[in-house]
Amino acid sequence: MSARAESGPAISARNLTRRFGKLVAVDHVSLDIPRATIYGFLGPNGSGKSTTIRMLCGLLRPSEGECVVLGHPVPREAEQLRMKIGYMTQRFSLWEDLTVQENLDFMARIFGLDRSVRAARIEERLRQYHLEDRRTQRAGTMSGGQKQRLALAAATLHEPELLLLDEPTSAVDPQSRRDFWESLFELVDCGTTILVSTHYMDEAERCHGLAILDRGRLVAEGSPRRLMDSIDAIVIEIEADDVRAARHAIDGQDFIKSVAQLGNRLHALLDPQRADPEGSIRALLDQHRVQGKVERVRASLEDVFVASTRFKADGDAAPTGRAVA
Ligand SMILES: Nc1ncnc2c1ncn2[C@@H]1O[C@H](COP(=O)(O)OP(=O)(O)OP(=O)(O)O)[C@@H](O)[C@H]1O
Ligand SMILES: [Mg+2]
Repeated sequence: MSARAESGPAISARNLTRRFGKLVAVDHVSLDIPRATIYGFLGPNGSGKSTTIRMLCGLLRPSEGECVVLGHPVPREAEQLRMKIGYMTQRFSLWEDLTVQENLDFMARIFGLDRSVRAARIEERLRQYHLEDRRTQRAGTMSGGQKQRLALAAATLHEPELLLLDEPTSAVDPQSRRDFWESLFELVDCGTTILVSTHYMDEAERCHGLAILDRGRLVAEGSPRRLMDSIDAIVIEIEADDVRAARHAIDGQDFIKSVAQLGNRLHALLDPQRADPEGSIRALLDQHRVQGKVERVRASLEDVFVASTRFKADGDAAPTGRAVA
């Protein structure tokens, strides 16, 4: 590989598009993912995360656009890329009837690892992902979190430069998710680039960079901090004893784009042009004789997600929250 390819972004996509009949599953997505970082895909169901990942792996041909992954134009050089990437599919795709050790051995052979390194590498992964005691257990009998660890062990057997992980922690308990993310950071420290799709905001917040997809389009991009700082909405928090009454009081106003309840608080996203946002909300509460504390707060990543996706889904002309870091 040329020096230029080594130093360029791990993934570079320009106008990447995939159509299935009339449906545009991925719609002119352009992004650059720097090496040795964790980059997240966030988006509602059906927003095109898995389809994008499959194109980047070279498993699915784009209808339009280009992508270069680790210096290889894809899908043209997908074969050369295959040994440099690890891919964890959204659903468990190892062999349920094989044991943990057999699965790893089989994958090591597929990756063409030499006999001399195979056994040692498998032992290393068993240890690293706490699977030593399970080596003779059939994969199909393991819990969700154990299967995820096995899938990650398998995907990293050949020490890939790039890992593409499609919702690797769905159906995994919070402690196991944290452990899983610790292992991702260890890989990044060793120079691996990771692209991960997730529905968890706490995971998204841990990424160096994030892309929010909605109906195939990239609607917001940047570091989590930058996305939160540059949200195109005013976020108002309302703390009330009677949250339902507070909600009722502010419902149906054009300048309020969305309201979400968090315990005894409401998070309302307001039109960024609204003058005196706190006063407007207070007036509505007063009209309905609802007591409550009203405060303008910093946006959370969830606020960014809602502002980037739902406004558009409603056909509203409100801003997308796009912020390119
Ligand atoms: N092979 C296919 N044939 C037809 N439509 C497809 C195909 N693969 C994906 N789609 C459609 O493309 C859209 C995007 O799907 P995709 O699986 O990429 O979404 P996603 O963001 O990964 O969703 P989820 O969060 O549910 O995993 C969906 O509407 C889906 O039905
Ligand atoms: Mg998916």
